[in-house]
Amino acid sequence: MRVLHIGDIVGKPGRRIVLRVVSELRQRHRLNLVIANAENIAGGSGLTPVIFRELLDAGVDCITLGDHIYRRREIYNVLNGDHPIVKPANYPSSAPGKNWALVVADNGVEVAVFSLLGRVFMKPCDCPFTAADRVLSEIPNRIRVRWLDFHAEATSDKQLMGRYLDGRVTAVLGTHTHVPTADEQILKDGTAFQCDLGMTGPHDSVLGRRYDRVLETTLTFRPMPFDVAADDTRLNGAIVDLDPQTGLAANIERITIRENDCT
Ligand SMILES: [Fe+2]
Ligand SMILES: [Fe+2]
Repeated sequence: MRVLHIGDIVGKPGRRIVLRVVSELRQRHRLNLVIANAENIAGGSGLTPVIFRELLDAGVDCITLGDHIYRRREIYNVLNGDHPIVKPANYPSSAPGKNWALVVADNGVEVAVFSLLGRVFMKPCDCPFTAADRVLSEIPNRIRVRWLDFHAEATSDKQLMGRYLDGRVTAVLGTHTHVPTADEQILKDGTAFQCDLGMTGPHDSVLGRRYDRVLETTLTFRPMPFDVAADDTRLNGAIVDLDPQTGLAANIERITIRENDCT
């Protein structure tokens, strides 16, 4: 069975390429499930109910988010409802959203999806390692495919989480830095791992934002609107082959789709 996880979708350009290519990718790679990180999709920060629906209609099955999850308050009801979307499981229990979501792939296999935030160079939150253990203890034993989006800054933190959960989850895939890492691998006990899936958005940018604006603020300390950039839009993600019986991964492939190459 095959699952695609798409890295942080940024703004309109990111949304545009996802809507354009996901159904074709599903066919071409015989994907059974598509997961996407959409924390930056609404104007660069957050997610709205309308865009959430658009993503589902385009063939995305489950949404993960990150530190920008609550930028659009309209999404709270979606997060609290019975929808394929999760909040970071190491946020407080009073924060809107569910710690994990059960989604059913198109071959009938149940998949448990959850996300966690790192704590290095990020706002304080609960221990992601303890939270991972808690989530895994909540997921019914029959569900063997268990999928983590680890939304974190430090590669060391992500490598540690990969090893910590090796053999206990199908995949530990990193998001948040918007830069894909060339370390995709199957760990010793069968967990697919990559430090960062990268960004689905304009790559002629600084992490998806116009670099002239970021530079101006950096040089002068004057706050500027960090508008989403426009050019060289790419979809970044990874496709994982896995055994649905054991929930362990057999292969991981990093993918980049350039909008300029799309016909
Ligand atoms: Fe992001
Ligand atoms: Fe983030």
